[in-house]
Amino acid sequence: MAISMIIPLFFLFTFFSALLFLRRRHLHRRLRLPPGSFGLPFVGETLQLISAYKSDNPEPFIDQRVNRYGPIFTTHVFGESTVFSADPETNRFILMNEGKLFECSYPGSISNLLGKHSLLLMKGALHKRMHSLTMSFANSSIIKDHLLLDIDRLIRFNLDSWTDRVFLMDEAKKITFDLTVKQLMSFDPGEWSETLRKEYVLVIEGFFTLPIPLFSTTYRRAIKARRKVAEALTLIVRQRRKGEKKNDMLGALLASGDHFSDEQIVDFMLALLVAGYETTSTIMTLAVKFLTETPLALAQLKEEHDQIRAKKGNPEEPLEWTDYKSMTFTQCVVNETLRVANIIGGIFRRAMTDINIKGYTIPKGWKVFASFRAVHLNPDHFKDARTFNPWRWQSNSETSSPGNVYTPFGGGPRLCPGYELSRVVLSVFLHRFVTRYSWFPAEEDKIVFFPTTRTQKKYPILVKCRGCQAK
Ligand SMILES: *[C@@H]1O[C@H](CO)[C@@H](O)[C@H](O)[C@H]1NC(C)=O
Ligand SMILES: *[C@@H]1O[C@H](CO)[C@@H](O)[C@H](O)[C@H]1NC(C)=O
Repeated sequence: MAISMIIPLFFLFTFFSALLFLRRRHLHRRLRLPPGSFGLPFVGETLQLISAYKSDNPEPFIDQRVNRYGPIFTTHVFGESTVFSADPETNRFILMNEGKLFECSYPGSISNLLGKHSLLLMKGALHKRMHSLTMSFANSSIIKDHLLLDIDRLIRFNLDSWTDRVFLMDEAKKITFDLTVKQLMSFDPGEWSETLRKEYVLVIEGFFTLPIPLFSTTYRRAIKARRKVAEALTLIVRQRRKGEKKNDMLGALLASGDHFSDEQIVDFMLALLVAGYETTSTIMTLAVKFLTETPLALAQLKEEHDQIRAKKGNPEEPLEWTDYKSMTFTQCVVNETLRVANIIGGIFRRAMTDINIKGYTIPKGWKVFASFRAVHLNPDHFKDARTFNPWRWQSNSETSSPGNVYTPFGGGPRLCPGYELSRVVLSVFLHRFVTRYSWFPAEEDKIVFFPTTRTQKKYPILVKCRGCQAK
């Protein structure tokens, strides 16, 4: 491009930036927007946000703004003006007014890759029906009577193959993928599921790219992988339409009076596989990491699980619901891991109309981010909020109003349907893991929070089976 063109472009850019700046200042005064700063033109504060969440201590990004402006503030990230809430009451208001005042809003990459018939993108009455259908496949009575046995069996099956050095994050992903495939369509793990899983990895990598195939090879690869996954799932759906009826999620979708098309069913299952796969495996890995770094908690957890095993005698004997219910300290570990790790750190929504809250206006069309993380890590709500301390859940004080300040699974109409299932999976995994292996980290590894919560090196550990020496 000739230099003569760049100079006018530069002036144009400066001019529009100045205009934008003045308009925003005007907006702030007229509408009583929450206070805040929009940062640089166009990029806003996106770079500060990303660099904070790419570190193992992202808290300063929100802390600084909360200190300056209060728990509801305005910023400009990912190309849009966004109201951040670090306030539990406001977060609850946002969750409870889903579909009335706020609607969900995801980046183009995620909605393209998940597909429009996924639970995440559905709205209104259809969402309500599908949400409760999903819940009815993951509620506690179903887990107790049907799923627990498979969960226990598939976790044991996966643990069998561990020797020496394992990447815990990878192994946990295999487990959660196998479990989800089993639950959705009754398949046991094998070559088919492992091939499918490899494609899934590519799809998920595409979630946080620019959804423009020309610019991003990762996105191109993700689109291709999505097509392959959809083809594989479509085949299964077609077979099952003709073949036998089974009591699984796919069976329920096929039997539903809604007469869903193949495409609808495939989108729906494809997205549930993402949901079941990513989050639970991360929480499994982080629980082990936190426990490794908190030896007292690990010792107490081991004792709880050794006692359960001792009562059973044979290590092959399956876990029962009463065993799960007897894991009281484990439940504290589960809650504390969810609180500190915040796999879903918060949710983006869009204001459907001008909304007045706490004396401010959120203008129609603006983005809102309800930060659960900011609440979970706020010392006003949890003492020593930034340390992993499972014992806090033993005292009543912390749990007096957990519904308001503790929302690891969100809430309202979009409450995570897998909230109970993921707790059970994590508990059974911890049971089998600590009774079978001892381990130590093979390398230093740290947690990062962008684009998703994960450890940088997939948490490599060296495992040794407990009591093997005796053989
Ligand atoms: C769980 O869902 C099943 C249907 O799948 C239903 O019959 C049962 O009542 C539900 N149980 C609970 C505790 O909600
Ligand atoms: C864990 O958190 C849930 C809320 O999600 C609460 O109902 C439960 O009592 C907590 N468990 C313990 C052991 O405090």
